[in-house]
Amino acid sequence: MCGIVGYIGAKDARSIILEGLKNLEYRGYDSAGIALKNANDIKIYKDKGRIKHLCEITDFTFDTNLGIGHTRWATHGIVNYDNSHPHISNNKRFVLVHNGVIENYKKIKYDYLSDYNFYSQTDSEVIVNLIEFYSKKMCTESAIRKVVSKLEGSYALLIMDKENLDTIYCIKNKTPLLLGLSNDGITIASDIIAFPKDVNKYFSFDDQRIAIIKNNDVKLMDYMGFEIDINYKDISLDTYNVSKGDYEHYMLKEIEEQPTVLRRIITNYFNYDDCVIDKKIIDAILDSDKINFVACGTSLYASFMGKYFFEKLCGIPTECFVASELVYSNPLMTKKPIFIFVSQSGETLDCITVMKKYKAQNYKLITLTNNTASTMANLSDYLLDICANPEISVASTKSYVASIAIMSVLAKAVSNKKTNLKNNLNRVSIVIDQIIADLKPVIKNMAKSIKDSKAVFYIGRGIDYWVGLEAALKLKEISYIHTDAYSSGELKHGTIALIEKGTPVIAICTQEGTNSIVRSNLAEAEARGAKGYIISLESLSYSEDDIIIPNVAHYLSPLVSQVVCQMLAYYVALYRGNDIDKPKNLAKSVTVE
Ligand code: G6P
Repeated sequence: MCGIVGYIGAKDARSIILEGLKNLEYRGYDSAGIALKNANDIKIYKDKGRIKHLCEITDFTFDTNLGIGHTRWATHGIVNYDNSHPHISNNKRFVLVHNGVIENYKKIKYDYLSDYNFYSQTDSEVIVNLIEFYSKKMCTESAIRKVVSKLEGSYALLIMDKENLDTIYCIKNKTPLLLGLSNDGITIASDIIAFPKDVNKYFSFDDQRIAIIKNNDVKLMDYMGFEIDINYKDISLDTYNVSKGDYEHYMLKEIEEQPTVLRRIITNYFNYDDCVIDKKIIDAILDSDKINFVACGTSLYASFMGKYFFEKLCGIPTECFVASELVYSNPLMTKKPIFIFVSQSGETLDCITVMKKYKAQNYKLITLTNNTASTMANLSDYLLDICANPEISVASTKSYVASIAIMSVLAKAVSNKKTNLKNNLNRVSIVIDQIIADLKPVIKNMAKSIKDSKAVFYIGRGIDYWVGLEAALKLKEISYIHTDAYSSGELKHGTIALIEKGTPVIAICTQEGTNSIVRSNLAEAEARGAKGYIISLESLSYSEDDIIIPNVAHYLSPLVSQVVCQMLAYYVALYRGNDIDKPKNLAKSVTVE
């Protein structure tokens, strides 16, 4: 969602901010803007559209060493120039960029700002004017502390003050914000990958923190104004490995990286055949009477496999929850539940809200994430890195495979059973390589034949149904074709009414116990005009199946069948001419409710 970058230092702030914003493009946005110090003034450039357009409208002719920038994903107000950030206060003294949502902005407007003019429909413009309102009676630092005492909601804010033009004010509550140090300056951003490459140390703001950055100095404090020590962490080189290489799209690059990701997981999480997992994590799980997975989107669909592994291998009852549902509901808890949160970004607000809720009740929290510097990583008792390295395409691919692989390792470690997991994961990485090398032509043909469809359905049972849910998400996200997945037995209970002549129905057949029945269910749909397709595992295949995947252990089949579905979604979207890495209306990291 929205992204923030600010810079103060010896280099050209404009280039650093624009480059940082480019690296945040993957989060999804619809407008972009930048505010730059120009001698004693602040220049603002902003508009709807891409960073490329922002670069075209930004003046590059003056020297500037301080500025703040923003990519906006619209929440309050349509996508237009006025609603784009930065926003400026009525007397033009303060300029601000904001990520997040202010829930009580209308009340603030009514209570304090009735004399103010508003040029946008955003909640953010209210904040910048409230700062101005208080600044008339006190210094900027005190005005900011006063403002945060009034705000309800989530926000990461960067503020410039025309009367203190050597300073950037930063505020963080519930929306990610990080500060990075390089030899020549300080960068503040909502994601580590927006930092310039020479940043070598950083820290991640806790909630309810204010930082005042003046020249090379950072003063961090809480909302009461008490100063707080900063613990900087080192940045690893892998963090910055976000180039597209020779690929046309990040999505294809990330799909094809999956064998490498699996090999990295095997290296990091195995010592010979033994799983290397912190004993404290194993003990915490063994000490619980139920595992509750909590996640959204792709991470949620990956969690279904976590349930499968823990119930099958460890005999621990396990349930999967949609994070946004748990925010507002209070399902009955067992005596000693443990929570496993799964999140590629580690910044999904619904997950964070649920974490805080259960942390307050003293439940133990484990996080599986691709971002060990994230809010969720910081909030959890135990952390497992899914080792996928940065995922840029909005449509998640390698983090699905990585999360499931880590869940299988964790379940094996908890069960302490002898299994062939390491070899089986190795085999999966080889088969994904084979899919990429050999199956592209058949996948492309299938993509061509479904690309103009009005609707597509995936069917399967058990594991194959869960794979279908994620496959349907992938296809609808980037192709914009209405796609859904059904447990194949449910087709007859309604969905079969939607089958028209030629509607593609894709059956996933990788499980022995359900192979025949899923095929029969597909035949029922075909009898009503559907165009049936079958993706199967070699040992269960028929020669006429559309895509036959080389064998892997059946319990790891999602790691290969999903790769086929990811590629299918990719090529359908490609043939439809869509913006694959940045699909419309979607954001990579959902930091609002
Ligand atoms: C967004 C992304 C999805 C992702 C979901 C959960 O909707 O577009 O790709 O699966 O958020 O994100 P997380 O970072 O928590 O895994």
